[in-house]
Amino acid sequence: MEAATPTDRELYEQAVQVATHAYAPYSRFLVGAAVRARDGRVFVGVNVENAAYPLGVCAEKSALTAAVTAGCGPGDLEAVGITASPCGGCRQWLVEMGVERVVYARAAGEVVAAAPSELLPDTFEL
Ligand code: THU
Repeated sequence: MEAATPTDRELYEQAVQVATHAYAPYSRFLVGAAVRARDGRVFVGVNVENAAYPLGVCAEKSALTAAVTAGCGPGDLEAVGITASPCGGCRQWLVEMGVERVVYARAAGEVVAAAPSELLPDTFEL
């Protein structure tokens, strides 16, 4: 884990901006994510909750789903900015998609960058 660079910060700021679109009436915890592909495209996502709680989706999964829908796959994604520390399930998604750099806000508010393998060591692979 290391300090976020200025480029990391820009991606993180895009996540902060899109977080205002989150639909989180149950937790009131708004999360935004912004994924940058190697070709420069940025895909954003937010958490979308549901009255049937387990059906909600995390911001990272929304952003990664948008990237895959646009044609990106493992190896195409350079970095992701997230306004929260990614949950365990999202860490598995980040590893699977081969995102190189994860820029996120730690609980204390500090913005850091880490490799997915640091966030989820000894990953499950099929
Ligand atoms: N949440 C995310 O969107 N990403 C994470 O990695 C952590 C949790 C969302 C899910 C739920 O809508 C809310 O935050 C509270 O858990």
